[in-house]
Amino acid sequence: MLIGIKSNLKIITSVKDQNDYCNSLGEEGKKISLVPTMGNLHKGHEHLLSCSRTTNNKTVVSLFVNPLQFNDIDDYKSYPNSIDADISMLERNKIDCLFMPSEDEILESIDESHSPNLPVYMKTLCGKYREGHFIGVFKIVRQLLKIIKPSIAYFGKKDYQQLIMINYIVKEHFMNKIKIIPCDTVREDNGLAMSSRNNKMTKSEKNIASLVYKELLALKKIIRFDKNYDYDELRIKSIDNLSKVGIKIEYLELLSSNDLSIIQKNDTDNRMLFVAFYISGVRLIDNIEV
Ligand code: PAF
Repeated sequence: MLIGIKSNLKIITSVKDQNDYCNSLGEEGKKISLVPTMGNLHKGHEHLLSCSRTTNNKTVVSLFVNPLQFNDIDDYKSYPNSIDADISMLERNKIDCLFMPSEDEILESIDESHSPNLPVYMKTLCGKYREGHFIGVFKIVRQLLKIIKPSIAYFGKKDYQQLIMINYIVKEHFMNKIKIIPCDTVREDNGLAMSSRNNKMTKSEKNIASLVYKELLALKKIIRFDKNYDYDELRIKSIDNLSKVGIKIEYLELLSSNDLSIIQKNDTDNRMLFVAFYISGVRLIDNIEV
């Protein structure tokens, strides 16, 4: 059902209406850009919206809090919801369409006969610690791409492992016909990467969390300029530094940005530092190119 039109923003809540809308755009020769989200939009999302607005395409934003990608039911239940503010942001950014399907309908529409087969690099980093998470993301993103049929889709680099999985989905299931645009991570003034989960922290917790980014920058400096660096030693030191301020590191890895493989000491290209950590029970991730 089409429940409303606010300014020029179409709000669509059913798969069929979204299909019809996207097909009619296709018939008019218009292309679609997609920005998939789980709502609770912040400046990081706004950056994706502004990237999308630079094309002549119609921009569709999807908002679906995907239960399949939460490995912790409490995390899912407490996922922040700010629909009115989200709609205002979409209107301000002149977005054409918001697709906000119901949980039942979207889950029922997923074809379970094609079970995702993830590449081996999806077993590392978050894949190692969040059981089933990427399978859940895979299923929903594949479904959104099928329904919306975009020419372009925008994803943030903060979720880097997700981003390379999306490239894999597009290659395996859409014959590389969708262009995936990676967008830079947007940070608070103190360096903390924007995330919907930041809303779960106090100001002082956010300041403490920002120390992780500063630690990543310090590591980057050493790795780039000290040819004799010992990454295992550096990691132990960083984990120790951060534990003193109440941060629990889940992983802190230096890997290839191509396929998340371990890099050799003399490999200086495509290196990336990846981190996941907890502060006061909130789990956050970040990464930087080295
Ligand atoms: O990055 C996100 O917000 C989600 O993982 C996505 C891509 C919208 C799939 O649910």
